[in-house]
Amino acid sequence: MSHRGFVVRRGDLLVPYRNICPHAGWPLNWHPDRFLGERGEVILCTGQGAEFALADGACVRGPRKGQSLSALWVDLIDGVMFVDTGRAGAV
Ligand code: FES
Repeated sequence: MSHRGFVVRRGDLLVPYRNICPHAGWPLNWHPDRFLGERGEVILCTGQGAEFALADGACVRGPRKGQSLSALWVDLIDGVMFVDTGRAGAV
């Protein structure tokens, strides 16, 4: 199974999500490795401008307010991140 995703890091906090907007199912980003709004406070869908909270992926502004990004689960072992595919998609 393939999972395209990204991880936002804030200090020791890692927040990984699948790279799919819950609105149209498109990838969130148009530019490689650019997922955050201008001030780095939200995850931005560049398709239609929805904004998602960093901590839980909840849509805070845009056409899917109340829905959330799908979480990915990762393990960090000796500085290497592994996606737990058995838990992918669960929140
Ligand atoms: S495709 Fe992301 S907000 Fe519409």
